[in-house]
Amino acid sequence: MSPADAKAAVEFDQVSLTRDGVRVLTDLSLRLDESRVGLIGHNGSGKSSLVRLLNGLLPADSGQIRVHGRDPAKGPEQMSATVGFIFQNPDHQLIFPTVIEELTFGLRNQGLSAKEATRQSSDLLHAQGHADWAERPVHSLSEGQKQLVCIFSVLLLNPDLLILDEPFSALDLPTRYRLLDLLHELPQQIVMISHELDTLERFDRIIWLEQGRVHQDGPPDQVLPAYQADARARAATLGLGRGRAESDRRTEPAGS
Ligand SMILES: Nc1ncnc2c1ncn2[C@@H]1O[C@H](COP(=O)(O)OP(=O)(O)OP(=O)(O)O)[C@@H](O)[C@H]1O
Ligand SMILES: [Mg+2]
Repeated sequence: MSPADAKAAVEFDQVSLTRDGVRVLTDLSLRLDESRVGLIGHNGSGKSSLVRLLNGLLPADSGQIRVHGRDPAKGPEQMSATVGFIFQNPDHQLIFPTVIEELTFGLRNQGLSAKEATRQSSDLLHAQGHADWAERPVHSLSEGQKQLVCIFSVLLLNPDLLILDEPFSALDLPTRYRLLDLLHELPQQIVMISHELDTLERFDRIIWLEQGRVHQDGPPDQVLPAYQADARARAATLGLGRGRAESDRRTEPAGS
């Protein structure tokens, strides 16, 4: 592998992670060098934990991780210029009273003057059709609007790798489509977790996690239908859908 390759890739080498005494990831070895990588899996399969390893928010128990040539074990501050992270819950990310303060904070941290940080933030809001949000209190925004502010604040920092943990869950359809188009135009590598499989159709590679291990790994047209079929089969056994009702009928004694 050439150094240039290593710089654009995310690598896991036999990584294991335990949280509160429970094994979450087991001997994970992966090399992600595609531009768009989707991460899918059922609740609790380890998706959010995996991406938290990439910006140093969680330390691995064992194994090696390299993120665009950097070691996230050095901590989140060391990774902030490399990895932009959009959390599953906007309330875990938003800390300032107003939208403009939220947007300018990261830029100020990168050394920009207050004037330049405000200019870039205002330009982005304007370009996205939300110039009127600048002075709005963050707490007055809807959940989807908060999610969008989180995404804007990370985009402004122009990181090498963008990680999005279920970024669309609160967004309305037009916003979702616009944001997806925007993401696909970006030059950065993107790792995105989503339960909304249609948002991953244009991705290069999909990794399906199951109990902290890779269950399937391949192009979207192979992995997404397999995952969907598996989910339907599980729903039937869980009794959450029509499948259970049908199987109940089949097992009911005649005449009951
Ligand atoms: N803060 C925490 N402390 C301890 N264990 C945790 C914590 N967060 C998650 N876990 C555990 O780690 C495992 C993986 O959780 P994780 O949040 O990575 O799953 P996920 O695939 O992102 O699920 P979801 O689709 O529900 O977001 C689960 O068993 C969960 O109980
Ligand atoms: Mg999660």
